[in-house]
Amino acid sequence: MNKQEIVNNTAKYARETLEGEASGHDWWHVYRVWKMAQNIGQKESADMFIVELAALLHDIADYKMHDGDDTVWPRVAREWLEKQGVDEETISHVCEIIKEASFKGAQVESKINTIEGKVVQDADRLDAIGAMGIARTFAYGGAKNREMYNPDIKPEMHESFEQYKNNNSPTPNHFYEKLLLLKDLMNTESGKEIAQGRHVIMEQYLKDFFNEWEGKA
Ligand code: NI
Repeated sequence: MNKQEIVNNTAKYARETLEGEASGHDWWHVYRVWKMAQNIGQKESADMFIVELAALLHDIADYKMHDGDDTVWPRVAREWLEKQGVDEETISHVCEIIKEASFKGAQVESKINTIEGKVVQDADRLDAIGAMGIARTFAYGGAKNREMYNPDIKPEMHESFEQYKNNNSPTPNHFYEKLLLLKDLMNTESGKEIAQGRHVIMEQYLKDFFNEWEGKA
């Protein structure tokens, strides 16, 4: 199989697996991350075969949907890539990326060190901010039966992955606990630039949200 065929098959596989998932980690999230990873990856001269496979598989079995077991998804990805006849070096690089690309809490350092990994992580983070980030955050809160907002519950910074995973605060807090921190965590120059614009959109949105909450115009 040639690389393009493998990428196409993987897109089809990701779509079939994730279609209809309602928490914000659905196929269309993966689609947007894939497109953004292509955009940034080309500018950063990354190996696009690795970038595309990692982007397409990065949420294939998300830990949030598997009772917190974060070893499931690199395993699912590996099985798929082996079936496609992808070479071992590529498989382990892709699996390394999807293991590390996920966000593990504001204070937890991530260990991504290849340009391909940086690109995919940036693309994933960019989909969590801006107009799309706002939509996804509320969709996720709804799927988890969280209160839309409760002014009595203050945001908290999570020092470990465990704390982050188990947090149950209302949706707007999530902006302070994660989303507004993302622009400073971008890896690539192209990622930083796009994040800056999306950050401004969220700041404006939150200003409006809290104004409207208190009956201000
Ligand atoms: Ni993702």
